[in-house]
Amino acid sequence: MTNPIKKIAVLTSGGDAPGMNAGIRAVVRTALANGIEPYGVKNGFQGLVENEIEKLNHQSVANCIQRGGTILKTKRYDEFKDPAVRQKAVDVLQQHEIDALVVLGGDGSFRGAKLLAEQSNIKTVGIPCTIDNDIMGTPYTIGFDTARNTALTAIDRIRDTAFSHSVNFLVEVMGRASGFLAMDVGLAGGAEFVMIPELATSTEQLIERISSRSRMKLGSIIVVAEADEAGRSFNISKDIKKAIDIDYKVCVIGHTQRGGTPTVHDRKVASLMGYNAVKFLMAGQSNKMIGYDDEVCFVTDFPSIEAGSRTLTNEQLFEINNILCDI
Ligand code: F6P
Repeated sequence: MTNPIKKIAVLTSGGDAPGMNAGIRAVVRTALANGIEPYGVKNGFQGLVENEIEKLNHQSVANCIQRGGTILKTKRYDEFKDPAVRQKAVDVLQQHEIDALVVLGGDGSFRGAKLLAEQSNIKTVGIPCTIDNDIMGTPYTIGFDTARNTALTAIDRIRDTAFSHSVNFLVEVMGRASGFLAMDVGLAGGAEFVMIPELATSTEQLIERISSRSRMKLGSIIVVAEADEAGRSFNISKDIKKAIDIDYKVCVIGHTQRGGTPTVHDRKVASLMGYNAVKFLMAGQSNKMIGYDDEVCFVTDFPSIEAGSRTLTNEQLFEINNILCDI
């Protein structure tokens, strides 16, 4: 069977995630190996609408696999919800005779890719990238492993001060709707407690828990997922002080978790996903997302809006953490 794809464009959209560059590199080089011309779109869907497209070659993606961020740059672009704006993107792609588009991003970016495929004959495939690891339909998203290692390194460093000064810390990590990041670094970092969006633990419940400890713990660490209020740990700390007069210093790790050198795992998964994105397009797939589970890439539907974010359901992790943190 002849390959129906002659030209593939690739873009990154939404929040950056370490490993995106390895994904772009894999798309470009797999395309070239199969006689397909690869194109790079700068600045996500906005750049697509504004015709920021250039032809890529082997060299264009040299020396990027070890870099965080995205060499193609990224944007959040709400205007893409408008069919007239999307039509401009279709026109640009057709003008370049591009048959297929690979989108590296999260839920919002995939909605754009889905609508684009439904509105035109452009074939689209999504590669899931977010440090939150919260996209429905895939147990793993690019960037998660690097982010949890970055956050863990921060916690280990904070622990030095926590121990030396016998002072407690609230360490705030990212995670808007899901606690995968918070739970993993809490467990691996020996946190006394982990607050995740799924359980919506109130400050009162946290205070009750701290007060119910059999012995006074000093130098302990509580991991707080930022949920939908980045910086919420400052208020939590004030409330603890007011209620039970115990000091908790606050460290918000913030965007340090989104950058930096991707880990082996993220580079490997991104390479597999990028390769498979091209292969699935060549096999006639479109309007789909790549998933990854235990060394295997699969193709699945883009997540629906109704499905929401993937959330942490493994209660055993809490049980284990409770035992290991020695309350
Ligand atoms: O990439 C996901 C995420 O890191 C969330 O955990 C966080 O709430 C959000 O991005 C913050 O993104 P920004 O500051 O780019 O809006």
